[in-house]
Amino acid sequence: MHASFDITASSGSYGVSVQPGLLEALLAEAGERIFIVDEFLAAPLVAAGLDPIVIIADEPAKSLDRMTDVIVAMRDRRATRDTVLVAIGGGVVQDIAAFAASTYMRGIAWIYVPTTLLSMADSCIGGKSSINVGKYKNIVGTIHPPVRVIIDPILSLSLNAEQKAAGLCEAVKICLCHNPDTFDAYLALQPCVNADAKQLSEVIALTLRAKKWFIEIDEFDRAERLLLNFGHTFGHALEAASGFAVSHGIAVGLGMLAALHLGKALDPDKDQPRYIEQFRDHVIELISSVDGLDAVLANVEVPALMDAFESDKKHRRDQYAVIVISGDGKVERRMLARDAFSSDQIARAFAAMLDYAQEDSQTRKPAGVQEILQIKSF
Ligand SMILES: NC(=O)c1ccc[n+]([C@@H]2O[C@H](COP(=O)([O-])OP(=O)(O)OC[C@H]3O[C@@H](n4cnc5c(N)ncnc54)[C@H](O)[C@@H]3O)[C@@H](O)[C@H]2O)c1
Ligand SMILES: [Zn+2]
Repeated sequence: MHASFDITASSGSYGVSVQPGLLEALLAEAGERIFIVDEFLAAPLVAAGLDPIVIIADEPAKSLDRMTDVIVAMRDRRATRDTVLVAIGGGVVQDIAAFAASTYMRGIAWIYVPTTLLSMADSCIGGKSSINVGKYKNIVGTIHPPVRVIIDPILSLSLNAEQKAAGLCEAVKICLCHNPDTFDAYLALQPCVNADAKQLSEVIALTLRAKKWFIEIDEFDRAERLLLNFGHTFGHALEAASGFAVSHGIAVGLGMLAALHLGKALDPDKDQPRYIEQFRDHVIELISSVDGLDAVLANVEVPALMDAFESDKKHRRDQYAVIVISGDGKVERRMLARDAFSSDQIARAFAAMLDYAQEDSQTRKPAGVQEILQIKSF
């Protein structure tokens, strides 16, 4: 399977290619380059004598403090304004490389080879970098797209079920946000955690073409592209409240379940179209494949989720910004007054999320919610 297309950005357009074997071809190219690579994939580069900057891809690695080491490592390797930074890794390496490339000597070119399904199907296009500062996740960043994105589906062979589920949660989100036909096309590919590299390549190509529409129409995140935050405000809260024990894509999957619950509560009289039910079932199936998740969720408390939710940068001082599915099945952004009623609805959505496997979680009032509401109404 081979796909290639261009993304138009204000800084110029860049090409995206999906094809097995592309990484090997890239490594064989000549040019003034410095490599930054996920530790998991470093061995072949070291063996080829490339002296890569090696990143252990955990959350602390993408903090502002740690950027100093990366910039120093680039300078030690004599990077100039003409050097191209080649980044090979998942979203963590992407965020570090994009931030470093956008600031090093006021900006150098970079090439990105995403290696997780999440980065192949979602984050590799759009050009955003997000860096953590202190306890605040993704609070600083830049927009500095790579000059090329090279997707080699061979790299998906070493991903485990959780990593595939995480990538598919983001992929299905993009397809649903795009339109119901794209969501149907996604389901027709029968994506699941046992999907092979060929199936995943098709999911990646479909999803990136859908995301291309969002980022070209709204490069700077002012309108349409905001819809792609579906599941993220809830999901980021879960990442923080679980001490990052829940990975980003899985947290987004669970966050979408919370957002679905909230949307229904806001529009109780409307029956959503059937494809929303299919969407929910698919996300639950993906999440259910993650070993040990229930034990992690058992230790997450709704008040901790609410605290993290409150500090999300997307809210306004007096309004919560949430992305929900409306009664007629459309993904939409809603601003909710920051009052006790909204906190109540949001706390219930979180409680339903923690209980996601329950058949009746859309309607059941989970134990403990009343207490939270009382605390919140003071
Ligand atoms: N900048 C953006 O637009 C954007 C978008 C979404 C997510 N993110 C960020 O990306 C991060 C999550 O990224 P991620 O989920 O892609 O993974 P990651 O970079 O956090 O890596 C997760 C794990 O996968 C391993 N790994 C990487 N490639 C592998 C491969 N081919 N086979 C086996 N293991 C492999 C890594 O070593 C690591 O242990 C979060 O910090 C999130 O905030 C950024
Ligand atoms: Zn995401």
